[in-house]
Formats: sequence, structure tokens, C-alpha cells
Amino acid sequence: MNALQQEILELKEKKRAIILSHNYQRPEIQDIADFIGDSIELCRKAQRTDAKIIVFCGVDFMAQSALILNPNKKVLMPSLGARCPMAQMLPLDYFKLWKQRYPGIPSVLYVNTLGEAKAECDVCCTSANAVELVLRLKEDTILFGPDRHLSDYVAKKTKKQIIPVPPQGFCPVHVLFNVGDLKGLKKIHKDAILIVHPECTMDVIEIADYVGSTSQMCRFVRESQEKKFIVATEIGLIHRLKKENPDKEFIPAYKEAICTAMRANTLKDVYLSLKEERYKVILPEEVIKAAQKSLEKMVEIFR
Ligand code: 13P
Ligand code: SF4
Repeated sequence: MNALQQEILELKEKKRAIILSHNYQRPEIQDIADFIGDSIELCRKAQRTDAKIIVFCGVDFMAQSALILNPNKKVLMPSLGARCPMAQMLPLDYFKLWKQRYPGIPSVLYVNTLGEAKAECDVCCTSANAVELVLRLKEDTILFGPDRHLSDYVAKKTKKQIIPVPPQGFCPVHVLFNVGDLKGLKKIHKDAILIVHPECTMDVIEIADYVGSTSQMCRFVRESQEKKFIVATEIGLIHRLKKENPDKEFIPAYKEAICTAMRANTLKDVYLSLKEERYKVILPEEVIKAAQKSLEKMVEIFR
């Protein structure tokens, strides 16, 4: 542990804070976090904590979800640069327009959306539960956004009619994986298992051995008897995979699969965030109240 990490831990104790980290965060941040997880696990953790301050090392929509589920807490984002580009792809007015275009059709939004869009949808989902949640809805036609690839995956698994909103929302990191490269890697590493995130394009998903959220991938690898894995998601996940499975080998599907939003948080930012209690996540009260319904509905279903 380095001196800055030590100082952060002392400050955290003094301020009765908790550090939550997404699975993609820089290794030095993951190593000092109280909890590391995927979007749904981080929502649950934020909802249950009795800490006074939550330092949320992830991206904007995740920190907003923590505040929505626990509005009396002080939720801090270490860096203002940690803004998920996919979450910005569904502006509120656009979503409202689509809801008007499809009256009576239930809307499911991926948590990778901003608070005001969540406030307008019927229920939220994450990559860990999107398929199951859509299957549980009684309707066969569903408005789903903002990730076009996740909606294609959900449509395939549920056989329901999924209307993507916007038509082409995407994650700039997960569209980087390419079937040709992956097939090449599989040829070189014949004994390797290909694990992919459902934000990947459908052709990539189709050749995968396992598809799941970041934490589901960690669980799959932990429980697997296999020793070698090709990992098609943001490279930050490999730190946790290696730490939990020192006897297994991990091959990044693409070494440049880096989410600049996730990487915006540095250790120094975490220190300053705690010290100066910055940057406080703020949402209008009416947005918090309305978004609580759609987020809590999801957390309740998958308790
Ligand atoms: P997970 O919920 O699978 O961790 O995904 C979050 C995310 O932003 C993936 O790009
Ligand atoms: Fe957003 Fe993609 Fe980064 Fe996840 S990996 S936070 S979806 S840009």
C-alpha cells in the first residue's frame, strides 16, 4: 500500500465514509475500496450503507443511482470527467417523444441513463438482469434503451418485440471488439473460454462461451474449472479477475478497450474528493422521487 492510499484510508475512517468502486476502476482504486461490484451490486450497497459519505468511484449514472436510492447521504464523485457517453445518448426530451409515439407500451431503461430519463421510465434494468426483467413483464412489446446492442440481445433471448430508443445507442468501448480478431485469438488459444459483456455487438455475443455483467463474469470465472479466458470487456476487469484467480490466465480481447470515463478517477482525485468533500452529486428532488420508483422496482424484483 502506498502513502496516498494510506492517507485515503485514514481520512475515510475519520469522515465515516465508504468507498464504492465499479469493476472497471483503476487497480489502485479497487485495492482501497470497501466494495467492488457491477451496477446492480453497487446500487444495493449504496442503499444499505450506514456511512455518512459515499465516495462513488464509477461514472455519473452510477453515482446518481446511489443518491436516488439513498437521498439523505452525501454522494461524491471524485472526478467530473467520469461521464458515461452512453448515458448521454438518451436526452429527456427525446425519450419523452418516443413515449408519446408508443403510448401504452412499457419502457425499460438500462441504468446507464441519467436521473431525469430514469424518472420517466417504468422500470430500470442492468446488464445482470435485463433479460429476466423483460421476461417477467406481461407485455410482449417493450420500449428499451439506450443501448442498441443490449436491446438486440434482450430481443433474442426473450423473443419479445423490443423497440430500441434511441435507435443506435451504444457503448464506445464494447463496440470495439471485432469478430475477426476474436476468432483469431480463439485459434491461437484453443483452450480459452470467451467471456463477453452484453453491450458487445450481436455478432460478438453469438460466438461467446459466456455472456454476463461484469460481476457475473467474475463469478463465472471463479466457479469454472477452465484455466484460460479471453475477456471481451473493459480491461479494468482483468485486475479483479487476476486477483481472485491467481492460477488462471486472462487474455484481453482488445488491449485498447479502455473506458476514458471510468479512468477519469485517479487515486489523487479520490483523496481530494474525501478531503474537500467534492464533487457532490445533486439532482432535483422531483427527479429523485420519480426515479426512485423505477430503480427501486428493479432492486425489489432482484432482491
Ligand atoms: P455492469 O453492470 O455489467 O458492471 O456494466 C456497467 C457498464 O457500464 C458496462 O459498460
Ligand atoms: Fe459507459 Fe461503456 Fe464506459 Fe460502461 S464502458 S461506463 S457503458 S462508456
